[in-house]
Amino acid sequence: MSEEWKNKLYYGDNLNIMREHVVDESVDLIYLDPPFNSKANYNVLFKEVNGSSSDAQITVFEDTWHWNMESESTYNEIVTKGTKKLSDLIQALRQFLGINDMMAYLTMMAIRLVEMHRVLKPTGSIYLHCDPTASHYIKLLLDAVFGGKNFRNEIVWHYRRWTASSKKFQRLHDIVLFYTKGNDYTFNQLLTPYTEGSVKRKEQGILNRFKRGEDPVLVSDGKLQAEGVPENDVWQIPFIPPSAKERLGYPTQKPEALLERIIKASSNEGDIIMDPFCGCGTTISVAEHLNRKWIGVDITHLAITLIRNRLHDAYESELLPYEVIGDPKDIHGAEALAEQDKYQFEWWALGLADARPAHDKKKGADAGIDGYINFFDDNTGKAKTIIISVKGGHVTVSQIRDLKGVLEREKAVIGVFITLQEPTRPMKEEAAASGFYIPEHFPKMKCPRIQILTIEELLNGKQLEYPRLNSETTFKKAKRKQKGEVDEQMELEGF
Ligand SMILES: C[S@@+](CC[C@H](N)C(=O)[O-])C[C@H]1O[C@@H](n2cnc3c(N)ncnc32)[C@H](O)[C@@H]1O
Repeated sequence: MSEEWKNKLYYGDNLNIMREHVVDESVDLIYLDPPFNSKANYNVLFKEVNGSSSDAQITVFEDTWHWNMESESTYNEIVTKGTKKLSDLIQALRQFLGINDMMAYLTMMAIRLVEMHRVLKPTGSIYLHCDPTASHYIKLLLDAVFGGKNFRNEIVWHYRRWTASSKKFQRLHDIVLFYTKGNDYTFNQLLTPYTEGSVKRKEQGILNRFKRGEDPVLVSDGKLQAEGVPENDVWQIPFIPPSAKERLGYPTQKPEALLERIIKASSNEGDIIMDPFCGCGTTISVAEHLNRKWIGVDITHLAITLIRNRLHDAYESELLPYEVIGDPKDIHGAEALAEQDKYQFEWWALGLADARPAHDKKKGADAGIDGYINFFDDNTGKAKTIIISVKGGHVTVSQIRDLKGVLEREKAVIGVFITLQEPTRPMKEEAAASGFYIPEHFPKMKCPRIQILTIEELLNGKQLEYPRLNSETTFKKAKRKQKGEVDEQMELEGF
C-alpha cells in the first residue's frame, strides 16, 4: 500500500466510504469528532485568511438525529448481524432509552464504530471526541466494539470560555475516549516540561515532596523524571480564540494543539491517520504537518472545499499530492449533484474555482454572492475582492446585470459567473460590455471585469483571470506551516 500511497479526501457518508474504500487493518490511528446530539444548527461565520471578517453565515448541517426508516434498518442490521455483545447492548439501550433522537444517534454511531474497528490495524488506536451529553452511552458502545479491556483513557479536554450563570456548575470540558484495538499498540509517552519552580526545587534537592502530599506528579519511583512529567489525562488547551489565524470559522473546529497531542502519542511518521468526520480538516492538517499519511471523510462539499483551501494556504508547494474522491469529475456528475442538492453543488463549484463559500442561503443574506476570492496586487496590505455567483439551473442576461450591481455595491473588482448551462449570447455581450480590471502594478494584465465560466470549462482546467502573486510576495498571508516543526505558538495563542 505504501509505495503508491496518496492521501485521500472523500466526499460522502463515512459508512459507505469505509465499506467501499478502506481495507481491513490498514489504518494506524482514527480520530473522530462526530456531531453531538445537541439539537443545534451550526452557523458558520467565515473569516478570511488575512483576518478580515466576512459577515457571511452558512448553516452547515443539522446536528439533529431523528429516528427514521434508516435508523430502524441499521438497528435491525446490528441486532441480526452484529456481534452478540453489540447486539445485546443496542437492544438494551433501546429498551432503556426508547425510540428517540439519542437512540438514533447511538445506532448511527454503533454501525460506524464496527467499520472503524475493522479498518484499524491490530496495533492501532481510536480517539472518540464527544461531550458529556452522550459520552456515557458512547463508552458502552466502544466497550462492546473494542472490548472494555482495551479502554485506555478518558481524556478531559478542559478549556475556558465565557460563562453564564445557571443552576449547575459551568461545563468547561469535552471528553475524548481513547481505546486501542489490542494490547500491543503504538504509544509515545508525551512529557510536559517542568515548571521553573519545579526545576528550582529539583536543584535544591527537594525531590520527595510526594511523601508530604505535595506535587505528586513530580515524582516517579522517588525520582524526578529527566525531561518532564508524563502527560496526564486532563488537557488544558484553549479554545481557538476568534482572532487566531488558525480559526477558519467552522463552528466545531478543534484546536490543532489537541490533535497534535493525539497524533504524536499514538502514531509515528509515515503512519496512516483517518478522520471519518473531518469537518474543516484539523486532523488532516496536523497529520500533514507531522508527516503522517491521512484519509479524511466528510458529508458536505463545504467541508471538502474548506479543507482544500486550508491545506493549500498552510503548505503551498510543500503539500504532498492528495486525491479528492466522490466529487463530480465530469459534466454528468455535476448535473446529478446540481439536481440532488443545490447547496452542495455550489460549495463544490466554488472549490473547483479555488474560491471560498460566502453566505447563508437559507437566510437569503448577501443576495447574489455565493463565494469570493480575496487577492493582493499591490503593497498596501489591502485585499481586492472577486465576487462569485454560481448557477446550477437556467441562466439569463438579467443575472449578469445583477452581478454587476453586486460588484458595485460591494466595491469588488471582478465578478465571476459560474454556470452549468452554456451562457447565452446576450449574457456574453453584457459581460464583455463591462470592460476590464487593470491592476496598477500589472498594467499588461487585462482581467475582464465580468467573467463567465462554465462548469465544463472549469473541469477542463480553465482558470479565473486575476493576478496570482505567490505568497512570498503577498504582504499579509495565511499562516504557513513548516512541515514537522512543532508549533509552540498554538497553545500560546489562547486565553
Ligand atoms: C463536529 S464536526 C467535525 C469538526 C472537526 N473535528 C474540525 O476540527 O473541523 C462533524 C463533521 O462530521 C460531518 N458528518 C456528519 N455526518 C457524517 C457522515 N455520516 N459521514 C461523513 N461526515 C459526516 C459533518 O459534515 C461535520 O463536518
